Amino acid sequence: MSSPPVADLSPASTADISVWRSEPFRFFFPLGVILAWIGVGHWLLYATGVAATYSCMFHGLIQMQAFMMAFAIGFLLTALPRRTQTQPVARLEMTALATALVVFAVAALAERWVIAEAAYAALFALLIEFALRRFLTRGMGRRPPAAFVLLPIAALIGIAGAAMIAAAEMNTLAPWTGHLGLLMVEQGVFLCLAVGVGSLVLPLMSGMPPPADLGSSPRQTWKAVAYASAGAAILLSLILEQLGFDRGGPLMRALVVSLGLGLAGGAWRPPGKPGAHRKLVWLAVWMMPLGLLASAIWPDYRVPALHILFIGGFSLMVFGVGTHVALSHFNLEQLALGKPSAVIFLGAALLIALLARLAADFSNTYFIHLGWAAGVWILGSAVWLIFFCAKMLSS
Ligand code: HEM
Repeated sequence: MSSPPVADLSPASTADISVWRSEPFRFFFPLGVILAWIGVGHWLLYATGVAATYSCMFHGLIQMQAFMMAFAIGFLLTALPRRTQTQPVARLEMTALATALVVFAVAALAERWVIAEAAYAALFALLIEFALRRFLTRGMGRRPPAAFVLLPIAALIGIAGAAMIAAAEMNTLAPWTGHLGLLMVEQGVFLCLAVGVGSLVLPLMSGMPPPADLGSSPRQTWKAVAYASAGAAILLSLILEQLGFDRGGPLMRALVVSLGLGLAGGAWRPPGKPGAHRKLVWLAVWMMPLGLLASAIWPDYRVPALHILFIGGFSLMVFGVGTHVALSHFNLEQLALGKPSAVIFLGAALLIALLARLAADFSNTYFIHLGWAAGVWILGSAVWLIFFCAKMLSS
């Protein structure tokens, strides 16, 4: 077999690198789906007898610290340089972030939680370095919106949570700190990120003008203070829950998220433009407070109720926003206004998975239900991934 001449390869590979760097979501979104399959597939393997044991901690942490983080990283690395009109992510920054995600997943599989949490904290350190280098550059064209003050708050909650989980693992702190750390990384980080990023994404998806720059007027400064207070309230609600306020803590978070996304983000009205993924994102926004509310009303069913937040809220949200990012970057605006069958299939699969997950706790076949929920979730995300990759390759 003859190999292609070197001269043919050089320009193509240079072009490829620039596309990966200017649109890093092309790499991180598929990586996120694969990481999710490891976390969700855990229940499928156990239900089918392929795996002999299961770990709730492994599943919960890989979902929130790897799957969701990969999507957040793909989004932020793409959006921040565009918003601030600064240079795209450096190859080294991208490689370091991808490596930290993989190290987290491998360490989690080996249940080496101290290493895993160190890798997770490194993700935030790298993201802070990435953001600061762009925000502090002289040539910055635009500033981020006021709600983005929630991003460093999410990072601090994440780093503190990781340190508490690792310290509890090493028996250097009381076990309750490990539990609070879990609450922080499983809920605190993404509730802050959802409200912060939602303030930019929701108006854009609805065809509204993007939010004004931070510090451009006294009103924007007050908005930043309000968003920072929302972050502080989310953290306080986690501490209250840890102190035994099983209902008050989640209720407080439900209120903050409803105000942050519903009122400030404009989700109190349905999306102003057509498109299946817009409806899914809107649904996901309301699933978040609904899940928190359900867990407050029925603390005995806390974990299944929280899956309204995890499956219906977080996972539906990242796929909906991921669809929007992909279709706009691939110049598929017309498709974004329609109902692509892969997006409909994804939405239906995630909702069926949620129903199966909820039904599990009321059935006599708990693990069979978990297996079905996991299988359907994986099928829906696989169809989405094929759709995403096909559009990416043809764009
Ligand atoms: C679709 C199939 C899914 C199934 C069958 C499933 C099942 C479960 C089960 C059985 C638990 C542990 C219950 C216990 O502690 O006894 C759990 C916990 C958890 N799951 Fe899932 N899950 C699914 C999807 C997801 C998704 C998509 C996410 C996140 C985006 C997620 C995030 C979590 C978290 C964070 C926890 C820990 C909750 C806590 O203990 O506070 N799960 N899940």
